[in-house]
Amino acid sequence: MKATITAIAHSVPSEVYDNQWFEDKIETTDEWIRTRTGIRERHFAPEGQGVTDIILPAAQEALRRRGLTPADVDCIILCTVTPDRVFPSSAAILQRKLGAINAWGFDLAAACSGFVYGIYTAAKLIESGAVRNVLLCGGDKMSAIIDFTDRATSVLFGDGAGVVFMEPGTDDAVGVMDAILKMDGNGEQFLHQKAGGSMRPPTIETVTNREHFVYQEGQSVFKSAVKGMADVSYEIMERNGLSAADVAWLIPHQANLRIIDATADRMGLSKDKVMVNIDRYGNTTSGTIPICMSELYESGRLEQGDNLVLASFGAGYTWGAVLVRWGLPRIQSEEGLA
Ligand code: UT7
Repeated sequence: MKATITAIAHSVPSEVYDNQWFEDKIETTDEWIRTRTGIRERHFAPEGQGVTDIILPAAQEALRRRGLTPADVDCIILCTVTPDRVFPSSAAILQRKLGAINAWGFDLAAACSGFVYGIYTAAKLIESGAVRNVLLCGGDKMSAIIDFTDRATSVLFGDGAGVVFMEPGTDDAVGVMDAILKMDGNGEQFLHQKAGGSMRPPTIETVTNREHFVYQEGQSVFKSAVKGMADVSYEIMERNGLSAADVAWLIPHQANLRIIDATADRMGLSKDKVMVNIDRYGNTTSGTIPICMSELYESGRLEQGDNLVLASFGAGYTWGAVLVRWGLPRIQSEEGLA
């Protein structure tokens, strides 16, 4: 039996911030941001909201589309690096807000690879029979950890979330077919948050030194990402005997259009098979892949039996590729697009 996606939805905060907004605040240009990253605008949630507030509407919509209630959820896996609090888990907070009274669950912190790690974890829990279903959430409120005075990182990120509902499939030809997941802790030095954890708890000094924000050495991460994401995406095609013609969509993590293009080139895919929305959302970390998948679904571009390659690279380093064979029928045009 294969685990399969039986509903999907996404949500982003309503407030949009274009590149010009940054031009007024830091030394940057719309042209630099567009040509180096592919980003035109992103959404930020207001202060006082946590990542669970971004996820909640998507979770509710996914359940509505599946025709189930929160009480039907068995397990919540919430992928994020911007939890509402260090503890309790954001999965527990979402459980309460959603009213998923019968669910257990946990947070999964694999940064930009959160969703690919999460979908594999959810699939294995379902396939083993340990749970009947998983509400798999990927989202981040990156605006909470962006240094808005740092031009090298602040322009890259956005807030947003996607949610998939996963259950045992009735057809072994569809579902989560394969996954290749990787990790190399040597990447820590190039992408991390300096303070706030147990090694360096918050103090007045850490706050003054702005150590609670994303620290990234962009070029080092870029070089590893180009190789890591392309290699693993090619490998998953090869080991499943798929040619470029067999792949319907590459659904890549949206960190930089140049990384996405390099991955597509390595797979031999034309641009019309690559889902890109970095221009509208920036890098929403754990949210990028489920938001992309949800937008493809909502726009009627996913067909039953489509081979989807999900691919990511992020902090850790963590990276991976997952092969999903799509099982849902096309969305009815007027359904659920509220
Ligand atoms: O999702 C998690 C994983 N993260 C990634 O995959 C991100 C990987 N890295 C990247 O996408 C790219 O490295 C960046 C988009 C972050 C940066 O692009 P880059 O082409 O690697 O630029 P760079 O860091 O080499 O900087 C080039 C120049 C520098 O100026 P000098 O030293 O050449 O005078 C930067 O100071 O661009 C400057 N710069 C900017 N200029 C205008 C950096 N940020 C900006 C900015 N506006 N916002």
